[in-house]
Amino acid sequence: MKTVVANWKMNVGVRESVALARASLLTLRGRKVIPDLVICPPFVALSEVRKVVARSSANIGAQNMFWEPSGSHTGETSSRMLLELGVSHCLIGHSERRVQLGETDEMINKKVLHALSEQMTPILCVGESKEQRVAGDARAVVEAQLSSALRGVRLHTQGSLFVAYEPVWAIGTNDSASVGDVIEMHRFIRSVLERIFPDAPAGQFSILYGGSVDGENAYGFLREAEVDGVLVGSASVKINQFKEIVEAAAEVLEAQSA
Ligand code: 13P
Repeated sequence: MKTVVANWKMNVGVRESVALARASLLTLRGRKVIPDLVICPPFVALSEVRKVVARSSANIGAQNMFWEPSGSHTGETSSRMLLELGVSHCLIGHSERRVQLGETDEMINKKVLHALSEQMTPILCVGESKEQRVAGDARAVVEAQLSSALRGVRLHTQGSLFVAYEPVWAIGTNDSASVGDVIEMHRFIRSVLERIFPDAPAGQFSILYGGSVDGENAYGFLREAEVDGVLVGSASVKINQFKEIVEAAAEVLEAQSA
């Protein structure tokens, strides 16, 4: 399977989200085989977007969540509230939150554990900065992020897990990672996951690539067996671009099923 995750970030209000959700669903029309679609709107638009996607195969994701079910946590949103809104997936540890809001490895670990305990699928984001890549530390950074985020997680008894490899330098820059670098890092991430979860059945984790994915480069990533899908930011709010990405995923799946 191939998964296309749309992270609308803080770029659309409620009305625009409804229109974008409708248009995003239309991109699935008329295809023999369709990718899994996960739409992550801003919190304020979740309930309206839910109405739009209700009778479709698309899933709704949140862009963040807190690690307690309820309590005195001003401004936070719990997984239970999200589940009530039909949210099945949650982005955790996005680099924008790590960098702009000081989200720590410990907080990310608590969120992953909590999401899984609530039967929500975490989309754990990892990735190195430019300086770290230039210094040759990309793998070590990603390995450390995975180890700390997944501390204490028992995947074989809990749900499934998505890991999104999003090199920080490729986010919102039009400078995506090369397909070769992505394949290499995805293989490495898979090997780390297999070491952390020796008993997990094949297919329990999916590895996505994110960072300046657009209509032009999506096919190149998606056709690779190592790439289970893409996590799309800017191009997910430009419907023509998004349509091309969904079509690229559908073409890959159609070729595989032919
Ligand atoms: P861009 O697609 O805008 O580079 O953003 C990627 C991202 O951060 C998705 O979570």
